[in-house]
Amino acid sequence: MKKKVSIIGAGNVGATTAQLIAQSGFADVVLFDVVEGMPQGKALDIAEACPLWGSSSIVIGTNNYEDTVSSDIVVVTAGLARKPGMSRSDLLEANAKIIRNVSAEIAKTSPHCILIIVTNPMDVMAQLAWKTTEFSCKKVMGMGGILDAARLRTFISFELKVSPEDVEALVFGGHGDDMVPMPRFSTVKGVSITELMPKKKIEKLIERTRNGGAEIVSLLRTGSAYYAPAASTFQMVKSILLDERRTLPCAAYLNGEYGVKDLYMGVPVILGKEGVEKVIEVRLTKEEKAQFKKSCASVRKLVEKLI
Ligand code: NAI
Ligand code: 2OP
Repeated sequence: MKKKVSIIGAGNVGATTAQLIAQSGFADVVLFDVVEGMPQGKALDIAEACPLWGSSSIVIGTNNYEDTVSSDIVVVTAGLARKPGMSRSDLLEANAKIIRNVSAEIAKTSPHCILIIVTNPMDVMAQLAWKTTEFSCKKVMGMGGILDAARLRTFISFELKVSPEDVEALVFGGHGDDMVPMPRFSTVKGVSITELMPKKKIEKLIERTRNGGAEIVSLLRTGSAYYAPAASTFQMVKSILLDERRTLPCAAYLNGEYGVKDLYMGVPVILGKEGVEKVIEVRLTKEEKAQFKKSCASVRKLVEKLI
């Protein structure tokens, strides 16, 4: 029997993530939304592509949590997305209400699942989902750093005219305006970009990464990015489903790591079948520490408004 992945919120990110999972054939997929007919329609469309992809995944759409029962992984993309001029934190109150409700349902229907939160402001929503479900913190995590790092990787590859496949990058901190892109740990085939381009150029790429979500919002005018967010979410799902133990930057619960207590924050973790199997601690420079601390303070401020 295949593993079961449920996706709560069948909008742009949710449906595209469902497509990637179904296309891989790694799991059956349940696509849930509160809008009637829409998840059913999208799921049927994806199911009808499975013969063409050579995939035997079963894909269903639903408005009923009963259909998500005993999921192995639940991905939450339910909520409002940014409009031009909005920051991720402008979504706080409205999305918190949705996350409280969705998390309570998941705790009842899939008490043993691993929960991946995508809804913004993501780090805060991950903390809220963890509190609401009362799951082990290893089982609740957020997607943000993989996307931010993918954006930095892309911009480095544009700049150096090299294959993005050969570019690695690391972004710490919250998935917000204070995220902490790490040039020291961003490389082309193992060579740090600090060796490959001047500081001023790196600063430009960092700025573009910090504005990466807003750049897409302003181009799209309605809605926010979803292809790269879905690909990032799929990378987490795959690492857990296949127990790949990939090292990926994710929002994880910190209980003393990096000197931070009781806060979800973006750090490199090992993701495997149990969820967050280890938080990787690397030594940060004074400047990196200061930036990380600032990012933690921004997330904590929002958490304290809610929890
Ligand atoms: P979207 O508007 O296309 O989809 C959201 C879906 O959630 C809609 O279909 C809506 O009907 C559904 N929904 C609303 N309330 C619900 C509830 N109580 N239960 C189930 N479904 C419900 O938005 P999109 O682009 O898919 O983005 C979703 C969320 O993910 C947004 O908050 C967005 O800001 C966030 N996001 C986060 C990223 C990250 O890196 N963490 C990246 C991209 C998006
Ligand atoms: C992004 O970074 C909106 O968080 C979303 O594209």
